[in-house]
Amino acid sequence: MPNSAIIPVPELVAGSVTTTGFRSPLRTSIAMKSVHNAELDESVIDWPVHMQRALDIACNVIAANPNPRVGCVITNNNTVVAEGWHIAAGHPHAEAMALENAQAAAEGGIAFVSLEPCNHQGRTGPCSEALIEAGVSTVVIAMGDPNPKVSGQGVRRLEEAGIEVFQLKDFERPAREINPGFITRHQKGRPFVRMKLAMSMDGRTALSNGESKWITGPSARADVQKLRAASSAIITGIGTVLADDPRLNVRVEEMDLSEAQLISNEESLKRQPLKVILDSNLKTPDSARVLQGGRTIIFTNHAEPSNQFAVANDVEVYNCSNGTGPHASGVELHSVLESLAVEFECNDVLLEAGPTLCGSFLKACLVDELVLYIAPKLLGSDAKALLELTGIESMDETLDFDISELYQIGEDIKVVLRPQ
Ligand SMILES: NC(=O)c1ccc[n+]([C@@H]2O[C@H](COP(=O)([O-])OP(=O)(O)OC[C@H]3O[C@@H](n4cnc5c(N)ncnc54)[C@H](OP(=O)(O)O)[C@@H]3O)[C@@H](O)[C@H]2O)c1
Repeated sequence: MPNSAIIPVPELVAGSVTTTGFRSPLRTSIAMKSVHNAELDESVIDWPVHMQRALDIACNVIAANPNPRVGCVITNNNTVVAEGWHIAAGHPHAEAMALENAQAAAEGGIAFVSLEPCNHQGRTGPCSEALIEAGVSTVVIAMGDPNPKVSGQGVRRLEEAGIEVFQLKDFERPAREINPGFITRHQKGRPFVRMKLAMSMDGRTALSNGESKWITGPSARADVQKLRAASSAIITGIGTVLADDPRLNVRVEEMDLSEAQLISNEESLKRQPLKVILDSNLKTPDSARVLQGGRTIIFTNHAEPSNQFAVANDVEVYNCSNGTGPHASGVELHSVLESLAVEFECNDVLLEAGPTLCGSFLKACLVDELVLYIAPKLLGSDAKALLELTGIESMDETLDFDISELYQIGEDIKVVLRPQ
């Protein structure tokens, strides 16, 4: 017996959903229906396939910052008639691209979208209106808009126009996974913080004389370039600027992308992430490579950041003072992240710093994901430790993580961890 695609709603006339669309006479008085794959009727058994495809094509781009990555598939009479995805900010949304590709074939069809269609005028028009004008009968989404101020408005507008809207519940988690930064920014008012660290098997990052290039091999370093490209900003500390003189830019030629990836990311890769230095005392040298090319922001502890320094170096300097408490030496990390979210619309930020700043972020519980590259080397116990993290005195106080990915990359190991 096929299951009903409609979860029980008291006023709703029971019935199954078909790919040509089912309209309840009570449609306007009920909210969007959330269904699990196991509840789908045989006639709509292909819905998960189309939603999975919408998620897959959303990932054609490494990032669409400050926008989310979104994919859309339009079907009609059980046939895929068009696809679209958001290639970069300022370009058409996924729904608009798919509708453009579908033309008249969208009428009466079903739009599968990985995120609730927007209902506001941004850089482009509202997608809800475009779907209504195109005459689709049904919209299936994977997740609602994470912005609490607009969440549900796209669905409401579609329903007011008589379009049936469903959420495929089992796709909510994977849909959230492709846009962690966009979701964190809207829900927590700060970016998603991804901390990258490269270390030896014995958890060391540099020899005692400071030499650290290169602990990991070329494949791991190419992967770090992809992490940079996926980020709105790269954060480092003055210690790393002085020790390594990094450029902190995305170098496409080092990313090891396929021809297809290069083509689909042509627009998104035109955008370099912001370079962010946490430097309490403005010790960044004028000659630092990080100041050359691309937008650089320095957060300092100076009561009045020196404009002269900023003008001379074409960088923006902001005060994020830590006050006068016991940890007043560094800049205030919560304020830095809030500023990056609010003023600079940063979704994901990549923390590429040394043991001091990485330790501070961990102590402040501001790390959402840890990406660890482990080289099959031993640097010995006089080499430098991974983190400045003291004061853990019992097993109850350890920082615990879940492993979400673990695989070999070139000659190294990559582990992705999330705090428990
Ligand atoms: N293995 C890796 O993946 C990796 C990655 C990057 C760097 N490194 C290595 O790390 C070494 C440098 O480490 P590091 O610890 O000296 O440098 P760091 O962590 O990059 O920077 C530390 C500095 O940031 C400033 N800072 C500002 N606000 C802070 C806050 N709230 N908390 C903590 N620090 C804050 C402090 O200087 P002020 O007080 O003067 O502002 C602090 O001394 C280098 O040898 C480099 O090669 C390794």
